[in-house]
Amino acid sequence: MEITTTDLGLAARVQHLTKTYGTGQSAVHALDGVSVGIRRGQFTAIMGPSGSGKSTLMHVMAGLDGPTEGRAWIGDTEITGLSDLELTVLRRRRVGFVFQAFNLVPTLDALGNILLPFELDGRQPTAIERARIEGLVETLGLATRLRHRPHELSGGQQQRVAIARALATGPDLVFADEPTGNLDSASGREVLSLLARASREQGQSIAMVTHDPIAASHADRVLFLGDGRIVADHPGLSAEEISAHMLDAAVSA
Ligand SMILES: Nc1ncnc2c1ncn2[C@@H]1O[C@H](COP(=O)(O)OP(=O)(O)OP(=O)(O)O)[C@@H](O)[C@H]1O
Ligand SMILES: [Mg+2]
Repeated sequence: MEITTTDLGLAARVQHLTKTYGTGQSAVHALDGVSVGIRRGQFTAIMGPSGSGKSTLMHVMAGLDGPTEGRAWIGDTEITGLSDLELTVLRRRRVGFVFQAFNLVPTLDALGNILLPFELDGRQPTAIERARIEGLVETLGLATRLRHRPHELSGGQQQRVAIARALATGPDLVFADEPTGNLDSASGREVLSLLARASREQGQSIAMVTHDPIAASHADRVLFLGDGRIVADHPGLSAEEISAHMLDAAVSA
């Protein structure tokens, strides 16, 4: 009998993944044989030095970019090999993504950006979704900024709009690339507890890239990348343990 990702309790998984940019002498091996799963209902932190492949891994896992070699699944669905249209529909229904560079639509105000996933799906939010969006707007302190366009918002406000947009549909799987990178420590803590609650209370599976040991200490599991490989995989660690691990990695690099 074939073992499915559901049996394994994995929300997403990749196998023998490589991603190479460029060719010949200028080739960059952004991912070099990564096999890993994101467990259902868990909050997973992904850490590692700049250029170690964190964003690339999340893009491939979310089906935003294809691998050079290897396979990727979202839930039970193998996404390597899906058509662009099939992938778009699957992503829209199941996956939320907070980009490192926010990716807000400049011509839409904050509310328009938050509602974009519904717009693209050709539907209105349900009552439950409207309540969720109101809660997100409140928690993220965006209530007075909904009519502002991205260029009228601070970096941290734009980041919070991107987070609200990613969570608005209540997706099973959320990828967040440094979601607290531009936030002050109080807003950062709000976002982290929002993500931790999303996994604990709603059973959403969250994968978050961060450079911050305190942010990563909120997670149930911490993956460390180095040079396009998974170099360590730990159950929840304290901020002190994470700092020590980062220091070890830097010394041995
Ligand atoms: N579109 C691209 N073309 C060429 N090289 C790329 C491209 N995207 C990423 N790379 C390279 O792949 C490697 C991994 O990049 P990636 O963005 O995944 O790193 P990262 O771990 O997210 O880093 P950071 O912490 O700085 O965001 C880097 O060496 C980067 O220069
Ligand atoms: Mg990155």
